[in-house]
Amino acid sequence: MLFLISFAALVSAVAARPSLNFLENHFTADNESEEVRSEAIKRLLEVFGMDDPPAIHGHKQAPQYMLDLYNTVADVDGVTKDPYILEGNTVRSFFDKLHSEQVEFRFNLSTVAMTEKILTAELHLFKLRPQGTTTFHRHHFCQVSVYQLLDTSTHEKKLLSSRLIPVHSTGWEVFTITQAVRSWVVDESSNLGLHVVVRTLGGSQMDMKMIRFASGRNHHQSKQPMLVLFTDDGRRSTSLESIDPNDTEATSTLPQAPMSGPPSRTARSLDYSEEEGTSSPCQRLPLYVDFEEIGWSGWIVSPRGYNAYHCKGSCPFPLGQNMRPSNHATVQSIINALKLIKGIDTPCCVPDKLFSINLLYFDDAENVVLKQYNDMVAGSCGCQ
Ligand SMILES: *[C@@H]1O[C@H](CO)[C@@H](O)[C@H](O)[C@H]1NC(C)=O
Ligand SMILES: *[C@@H]1O[C@H](CO)[C@@H](O)[C@H](O)[C@H]1NC(C)=O
Ligand SMILES: *[C@@H]1O[C@H](CO)[C@@H](O)[C@H](O)[C@H]1NC(C)=O
Repeated sequence: MLFLISFAALVSAVAARPSLNFLENHFTADNESEEVRSEAIKRLLEVFGMDDPPAIHGHKQAPQYMLDLYNTVADVDGVTKDPYILEGNTVRSFFDKLHSEQVEFRFNLSTVAMTEKILTAELHLFKLRPQGTTTFHRHHFCQVSVYQLLDTSTHEKKLLSSRLIPVHSTGWEVFTITQAVRSWVVDESSNLGLHVVVRTLGGSQMDMKMIRFASGRNHHQSKQPMLVLFTDDGRRSTSLESIDPNDTEATSTLPQAPMSGPPSRTARSLDYSEEEGTSSPCQRLPLYVDFEEIGWSGWIVSPRGYNAYHCKGSCPFPLGQNMRPSNHATVQSIINALKLIKGIDTPCCVPDKLFSINLLYFDDAENVVLKQYNDMVAGSCGCQ
C-alpha cells in the first residue's frame, strides 16, 4: 500500500493524467534509472503475488467460462462488484492434456502451490447432441459417473461423482471432484487422470455414440474439457476492505466544498494558510495504472488497467465531517492549531477505505487464472 501511495506522490507531480507511464518515459535515460525501473516493476509484480511476469507465446483465447466469471465478479475496471460471490480469492482453469479418444482426462496441476487451499474442484464437460438422432431410443436419462484412476495396470478406480443426465441434452455438465484434486496437489505422481462411464438406468454400459462429450482432440476449443479450481492462497486481508463497495460517500467522488464554517480570521489561521499555501482540502484524485504501459498486456486478459486513485490535500483545522476525521485526527488537528506542543503536524490525507480488484490472466503454464487482490483501490480518503 505504501508503495502505491509513493507512486501516487511521484506520478502526480509529473503528469496531468497520472499513470505509471512515468516509469517508461523518465527512467530509461541512464543505468541507475533503469535499475530503479526494474526494481519498481519487480515490486509491483510482488503486489500481484508473482516473481516473474508469465511468458505467453502467441495469442491465446481465455475460456468463456472464465470471462463470464470475471464479468460476474468484477466491474469494467476490475473492482470487485460483490465480495461474496467467491469464497476464496483464486479461480484456476485447466485444459485436458490427454486429448484421448476415450472419455479419459488428465490435467496438469503443477502451477497450484502446495499452500493453496482447494475449496472446490469441478470437471466441466460439454455434452454433444447424440449421433443419429432419427433413431428412437428407449432411454431418456443416463447415469454419468466420473472416476479417479488409481492404478493404470489394474484399472482400479474410485467413484468421485455421478449424476442422471437427459440423453438428448446438450451443453455443459459440471461434476464436483474436489477430493481427487486435493490428493493430486499433495502428490503429483498420484494424478493418473479421470475416467467417465455412462450407464443406462438399469446399470448396463451405454453406447458412447449416443452419449458424447467434446474432447480436446476433435472439437472446438470453446468446448474443451476443463477443470476449474476454486482456491484461496491465504493472502486475503480484511484491513480496511469495505463490505459494501457502494458506500463511497464523502471525499470519494467530488472535489470538496470548502471547510465547514466560515473562514476564521484569527492570526493562527493566517499562519496556517501561509504554511499550507493554496493546497486544496483532502480529496480522492485519479491514479490510473495502465497494464499496457507497464508491458503486461500480453498476459493480463482483463482489465486493461484500473484506477487506483490517490489521496491528496490538506487537513486543516477545523476538520469537518466531510474530511472523515478519526477522533485521533480531530485531537491532533486541535493540538496543531493551538500550537500546544511543538512539532505536531496536521493529520494526513490517506485512504480510509480500500477496495479489491480482480485480474484475469495467463499463468506460466498458460492456464487462465482469476485472482482477487485486496486493498488495491482507494475507495475514499480521509484525514487520519
Ligand atoms: C552503464 O554504465 C557503465 C559505466 O558507468 C557503462 O560502461 C555502461 O555502458 C552503461 N550501460 C548502459 C546500458 O548504459
Ligand atoms: C450497488 O449499487 C448498484 C446500483 O447503484 C446496485 O445495483 C447494487 O445492488 C449495489 N450493491 C450493493 C452491494 O449494495
Ligand atoms: C506439467 O507442466 C509443467 C510445466 O508447466 C511441466 O514441467 C511438467 O512436466 C508437466 N507435468 C506433466 C505430468 O506433464
